[in-house]
Amino acid sequence: MDSIRIVGGVPLSGTIHISGAKNAALPLMTCGLLTDERLVLSNVAKLADLATMADLLAQHGLAVEPEGRTLSIGGRITNTEAPYDIVRKMRASFLVLGPLLARCREARVSLPGGCEIGTRPVDLHLNGLESMGAVMKLEAGYINATAPTGLHGANIVFPFVSVGATENLLMAATLADGVTTLKNAAREPEISDLVRCLTAMGAKIKGIGTDTLVIEGVKTLHGANHAILPDRIETGTYACAAAITGGNLLLENARAEDLGAVLASLQEAGVVVTPEGNGFRVARANGLHGVDVMTEPFPGFPTDMQAQFMALMAVAEGASMVTETIFENRFMHVPELNRMGARINAHGSSAIIRGVPKLSGAPVMATDLRASVSLVLAGLAAQGETTISRVYHLDRGYEAVEQKLAACGARIERVA
Ligand code: UD1
Repeated sequence: MDSIRIVGGVPLSGTIHISGAKNAALPLMTCGLLTDERLVLSNVAKLADLATMADLLAQHGLAVEPEGRTLSIGGRITNTEAPYDIVRKMRASFLVLGPLLARCREARVSLPGGCEIGTRPVDLHLNGLESMGAVMKLEAGYINATAPTGLHGANIVFPFVSVGATENLLMAATLADGVTTLKNAAREPEISDLVRCLTAMGAKIKGIGTDTLVIEGVKTLHGANHAILPDRIETGTYACAAAITGGNLLLENARAEDLGAVLASLQEAGVVVTPEGNGFRVARANGLHGVDVMTEPFPGFPTDMQAQFMALMAVAEGASMVTETIFENRFMHVPELNRMGARINAHGSSAIIRGVPKLSGAPVMATDLRASVSLVLAGLAAQGETTISRVYHLDRGYEAVEQKLAACGARIERVA
């Protein structure tokens, strides 16, 4: 199994090009199930999770053809089963349920089960599809879903915000009979990207960027070309890399407007952020101060940036508090950061971080995608050598992470 070796202490300097967003690409790829025509996605990052989604679509019968940064998806659905072996690898596989039901009136999709960061149920997806006329049965770990007379429009009020449930129901509603209203819908930029792509495919959706989406079902959708938006979490991660090393990075192809809460917290901590070209520059010349953050649905501070920000706070002056409100078990990086000399006490959904002047390198273990990258950030700032094992987590969501960092001066390498 590969690991990543970092010798810390180098302030990063240079330009990092931000890739297309993983969390936008996953639902966008499943849009290929909504039409027999060709859907061409551009600005697609090379990531293990997107390869997994391509495998899943292929076993549904679609042809998924990569060419450079473009992915062309086409063909007819020949199989409506999403097997456990793929869904357990990647929870976002569950997003095929809405499109399959809308197109084929049936689907058999494995239930994802829990994961490292929490139990992550899918009840909102299932309840919403039931309101639209689907009948669900749980058999042998699979959801057997049917909609014998097709899906119909419904008025759905989410009890709390769910990105995945909003996406699944939004896609299903585009081909349902009548009007569907999704209230308390997620407003993440990836949802707006999905709305833009579906609209280009002929869907009728009102309310983009708001918490109420109104979808008027159409009979068929057609092919389209769609460029995926830049990855705001990759952007925020490299912004933290500049900050934690006292460096200066230009983040190219980055959208500050998708990262408001993170950039505000970085600025409050003493980091300088300035717009430049088609992105922005992040620099830190002086000390960092502790800042409190609480994760929330967009436009709040993203849970997917919590671990990285905590690594940064570990070397800030003074204390800070990080509160996680989205997932119940998302502090797996805390004991690993503490092995590197951080002083973090996690209790319930909050962690108190007492900043230390320096972290020290250590062998550490990655537990999930964002926890892994927080250890990379800590390693970049630490004195001495850090080895991070189980880096397959990183490959799920960060394209060429060691090449991008090494090009800006980091002493980082992958060890087989
Ligand atoms: C997506 C992102 C993930 C991010 C998360 C929150 C993708 C592929 N993944 O995950 O990176 O961390 O949004 O921004 O885009 N919940 C339920 N029942 C449901 C659905 C969700 O209880 O039916 C709970 C979850 O357990 C979690 C919370 O709601 O505690 C938010 O989850 P959700 O927004 O659905 O996250 P994902 O779509 O899985």
